[in-house]
Amino acid sequence: MTQYITVTDDDRVEARNGVIKLHGPDGFAGMRKAGRLAADILDALVPHVVPGVSTQDLDDIVYQMTVEAGAIPATLGYRGYTKSCCISINHVVCHGIPGDKTLKDGDIVNIDVTPIVGGWHGDTSRMYLVGDVPLKAKKLIDVTYECLMLGLEQARPGNHLGDIANAIQRHAEGQRYSVVRDFCGHGVGRLFHDSPEVIHAGRPGSGPELKPGMIFTVEPMINIGRPDVKVLEDGWTAVTRDRSLSAQFEHSIGITEDGCEVFTKSPKGLDKPPYA
Ligand code: MF3
Ligand code: CO
Ligand code: CO
Repeated sequence: MTQYITVTDDDRVEARNGVIKLHGPDGFAGMRKAGRLAADILDALVPHVVPGVSTQDLDDIVYQMTVEAGAIPATLGYRGYTKSCCISINHVVCHGIPGDKTLKDGDIVNIDVTPIVGGWHGDTSRMYLVGDVPLKAKKLIDVTYECLMLGLEQARPGNHLGDIANAIQRHAEGQRYSVVRDFCGHGVGRLFHDSPEVIHAGRPGSGPELKPGMIFTVEPMINIGRPDVKVLEDGWTAVTRDRSLSAQFEHSIGITEDGCEVFTKSPKGLDKPPYA
């Protein structure tokens, strides 16, 4: 059965143990700051995501902005990962590693950042268009963003994680896209990846009930083709097995008395492309 624990000491980092934490005002305040920096970083990247830029250049910007704000990139040194963000291009589903690769006209790109601010993790990602992008890729991005938003509409006390999952799945499959099952959203806070696991496809009313104080990510990955993914030799880069395009958006949210607070909304309204 699902267990919950009301967090009474926000300074204490409790390990992941399957119990769902219910955070108080201090947790929400911490997440607001971390989410704000995460969103600011994604906003600042907009003019830099252009043909010819290398993914390492973009990672350098993320690193600089993070440390200048007195924060730490959560991915740096995380389970052997050595970069400050993930950059996933075209058929890369998630966890693309920044490097020498340069962006080219027509690419679609997800950038996923997680600054740690005062111990709290602000985890968010958005899609970016590189130059002129084909209509079918833009359509995938629109539907993926709609999936995230429809999921968040279900994020309120009394609903279950399955209600979020089902809203996402129905919208994606209604457009004949597929939902990736191999990666999920997650509890977030003083831990990067905490309980519960937040699925993006499932039955209404299934899974843990949502309660005020829960803090977690919703981060659907939607493919044009089949849902199957494989991880490349580098141990991180996840790609669609059929090489079809994949898109993802991610927000960190907290369940309130009557809905949810989105910690990672763009202050500039740059939540989804086109950003021009
Ligand atoms: N930010 C990713 C997430 O949404 C996790 C990246 S872990 C890394 O959960 F090591 F691949 F960077
Ligand atoms: Co996440
Ligand atoms: Co993320």
